[in-house]
Amino acid sequence: MLKEKMQKALNGQINAEMYSSYLYLAMEAYFQSISLKGCAAWMRAQVQEELFHGMKFYDYVCERGGKVTLESIAKPESSWKSPLVAFKQIQKHEEHVTALINGLVDLAMAEKDHATLNFLQWFVAEQVEEEASVGEIVDKLKLIKEDTSGLFLLDAELGRRVFTPPAKGE
Ligand code: FEO
Repeated sequence: MLKEKMQKALNGQINAEMYSSYLYLAMEAYFQSISLKGCAAWMRAQVQEELFHGMKFYDYVCERGGKVTLESIAKPESSWKSPLVAFKQIQKHEEHVTALINGLVDLAMAEKDHATLNFLQWFVAEQVEEEASVGEIVDKLKLIKEDTSGLFLLDAELGRRVFTPPAKGE
């Protein structure tokens, strides 16, 4: 059974993951509006990935006999100055999510909640991957600067991303 404090924190994380999904959906709409279809497709995969994260927390709370409580999801922005500005915001956002996951780990340790500590390890590893992939895109966009053909090449590369939910236990 989940302790009240841990349950509240995990419910907060469901909201954070749902907000991430909503933010990336807003970014997808921005990229659609400027006809960068590959970036839009990358965002769609990211939207699905964040929903998956949110549901993974949701299922865990239920599995531990806890109660999921949903809160309002904040309104994201609707446009960005450039692809670089959008991806830099993702980078910052993912660093923030990493800090939230680390906070949950700290709490699970303090509460001696070994099951939650074990569950969170998947997210610790996932955040390393999230930060690395977006960091690489930011670096490429910095190199591209105003080079339109470079941007189109990157757009085509990002358009190949497809979200595949990991198999249970992975
Ligand atoms: Fe669910 Fe991108 O962290």
